[in-house]
Amino acid sequence: MPRLIKWGVLGLGKIAHKFVSDLQLVADCKLEAVASSNTARAAAFAGQHGATRFYGSYQDLFADDQVEIIYIASLNQDHYAHTLAALKNKKAVLCEKPLAINQKQVLEMIRCAREHQTFLMEGLWTRFNPTFGQLQQWIAGGEIGALRYLNATFSFNGLAYGIDSRLFNPDKAGGSLLDIGIYPLFLAYQLLGIPKSIQASAVKAPTGVDEQIAMILSYDKAHAILYSSFSHNEDMRVTICGEEGEIYMDSRWHESPRITLVKGDKQTLKEFEFQGKGYTYEILEANQCLRNDQQESSKWSLQNSLDLVQLMDQIRGETGIKFPME
Ligand SMILES: NC(=O)c1ccc[n+]([C@@H]2O[C@H](COP(=O)([O-])OP(=O)(O)OC[C@H]3O[C@@H](n4cnc5c(N)ncnc54)[C@H](OP(=O)(O)O)[C@@H]3O)[C@@H](O)[C@H]2O)c1
Repeated sequence: MPRLIKWGVLGLGKIAHKFVSDLQLVADCKLEAVASSNTARAAAFAGQHGATRFYGSYQDLFADDQVEIIYIASLNQDHYAHTLAALKNKKAVLCEKPLAINQKQVLEMIRCAREHQTFLMEGLWTRFNPTFGQLQQWIAGGEIGALRYLNATFSFNGLAYGIDSRLFNPDKAGGSLLDIGIYPLFLAYQLLGIPKSIQASAVKAPTGVDEQIAMILSYDKAHAILYSSFSHNEDMRVTICGEEGEIYMDSRWHESPRITLVKGDKQTLKEFEFQGKGYTYEILEANQCLRNDQQESSKWSLQNSLDLVQLMDQIRGETGIKFPME
């Protein structure tokens, strides 16, 4: 029987609830302990999801010798400090995206993971789902030929949350790029690699972070047109065109179970039955890495996370977006 992996969760907001509901669906792992800055929230969360222990301090979670891996679900600006503290306590870490706010932080996190010989992975959950696997299989199998064009976007109406929300707060590393623009950027990077050049244009919120941002990534013989926004809703689909066919990912593409291959007048639709909402696949990957004594995933490596944050740094440089803590 596979070794039981005991999980801890740090930071008990919206995403932690969704993640833990999926964790319960994965075999041979369990929710061991949870920690919040607020003891009452930790107690309520543990009661709702059946965690064995709860803590009103992150340090107590780091000191829990039953916990093998911690899922960091705090806000963007805290990923760095919380991940470093967990790694220094010899805990494996699955950290929410973005792994950190800039390249400098990610480099230090990788250095720390290597020093302590501890597993670290960014929670880029789309990378691990079966729809993405199908996409990669079609592309690697040459189904659409040489890639020439990719169009990926990610938007929702964040204005509805008010300008005071974390989404627009520079002290919380807000802005659409780090929060949701990371998904289209990840897709272009995975399929086309590091671009030769990037052009970007942002509409900024009064707080200085990007409210919406458009990006053109140029490659030798391909373009990726990417966009993210907090200023409106949209039907998020992906178009990927090669010289011999197209692939379309259904709305909302980053979590969609449906993907279509088009070659001339022939269409092939694949639809997957997702386990849970889709966080199950990154959990399975982390569990397997731990059982294999791997310190990083081969599907989404630390170099991949570093490349992605470097692209975000470059785009922020191009559009003049800097966070106060940088
Ligand atoms: N992968 C995905 O699909 C996905 C989706 C959304 C967000 N995210 C990422 O997940 C991270 C957290 O986002 P989120 O949407 O979960 O943020 P959130 O709901 O605002 O929670 C953020 C943090 O605030 C604290 N908190 C929760 N409820 C609170 C309350 N009622 N009052 C005061 N503080 C409270 C929690 O820490 P304590 O309990 O320790 O106080 C929590 O970790 C971000 O980095 C984001 O980029 C990922």
